[in-house]
Amino acid sequence: MRAVLYDRWGGPEVLRLAEVEVPVPQVGEVLVRVVATSINSWDWDLLTGKRYLVRPSGFAKGPKQLGFDVVGIVERIGPGVTRIRRGDAVLGDLAFDGPKAFAEFVVVKETALAVKPEGMSFTHAAALPQAGLLAALGLSGTPDIKSGSRILVNGAGGGAGTFAIQLAKLRGAHVTGVDSAAKLEAVRAAGADRAIDYAVTDFTRIGERYDRILDVVASRSPLDFARALAPGGRLAVVGGTPGALLGAATLGTVLGIFVGKRLGVVLHKADIHELERLAALGVAGRLTPVIDSTYPLEKIRDAFAHFASGRFVGKIVLAVDSAAL
Ligand SMILES: NC(=O)c1ccc[n+]([C@@H]2O[C@H](COP(=O)([O-])OP(=O)(O)OC[C@H]3O[C@@H](n4cnc5c(N)ncnc54)[C@H](OP(=O)(O)O)[C@@H]3O)[C@@H](O)[C@H]2O)c1
Repeated sequence: MRAVLYDRWGGPEVLRLAEVEVPVPQVGEVLVRVVATSINSWDWDLLTGKRYLVRPSGFAKGPKQLGFDVVGIVERIGPGVTRIRRGDAVLGDLAFDGPKAFAEFVVVKETALAVKPEGMSFTHAAALPQAGLLAALGLSGTPDIKSGSRILVNGAGGGAGTFAIQLAKLRGAHVTGVDSAAKLEAVRAAGADRAIDYAVTDFTRIGERYDRILDVVASRSPLDFARALAPGGRLAVVGGTPGALLGAATLGTVLGIFVGKRLGVVLHKADIHELERLAALGVAGRLTPVIDSTYPLEKIRDAFAHFASGRFVGKIVLAVDSAAL
């Protein structure tokens, strides 16, 4: 089978399509014939090795793979698999299996897969898992988001942001989306009541207060975020540089205690029940993945070059089996 591999950290140029053995499912695992997948910023972080936490592992054990989001058809089941059957269309986030979905086949733990609803296209399903789950996690917990809650999404035009806008609107919130000028139209189209260009306006200094800030880029200090939160409000940082994440997790937590607000980092969970709920919203037409573009697997370098340019909104999908899409 063909799989995307890389042998050193770098940009799109270090990616290569190679022939590798089709993996064999073990106890509790299934073999999925991948129909489509999509790029997440976590893939980019792993490829570039920018996050220092990925560097110590190195390439001593050979080339690495990428790809967290998977949607495809179950080809084979391993011993002890009970919930998923051969021929099922499934989707999942491989956050805890390890990235490997940029390939024609992938072995996945049964527990990481949800059954794809019939009414959802493979393209939409490929865009949903990791970004949708990050958005849902960032909006979960107390205080509850309800009608009239004021929500700000920082990094609103990307994968997680475009889902977060829609999920917050479904609960009746007033949503402000912050991103670069080129993405503000898409931010409004996703449902945001207000769109702010981060290059022009610092949302932490305009005197507005939010009940929840969901931040995918951690572009402000904990002190700035605290200023922009309403009393009792909460900052959920889901992404950013390691330094910014550490700052939010340490200084943010301490600062929050003093100012009566909650500032912290949200750790990702590949929760299939939440994924099923998101997929059901998709089928009901209440949550629509924003698809920037679709590339065939052979054009993996072009797809990553487009991702690296930052000139995309929502998600970039990779068609592994174009005929089945
Ligand atoms: N918490 C966890 O356990 C966990 C697990 C997996 C992934 N993650 C992280 O979760 C995040 C998910 O993000 P994503 O997939 O939605 O990323 P994405 O698709 O790359 O979107 C990020 C968006 O932020 C915008 N942006 C960049 N700088 C900004 C700034 N200063 N202010 C406001 N917006 C800005 C980008 O637009 P421009 O480029 O046009 O500026 C882009 O539209 C990533 O950081 C990923 O590493 C976290």
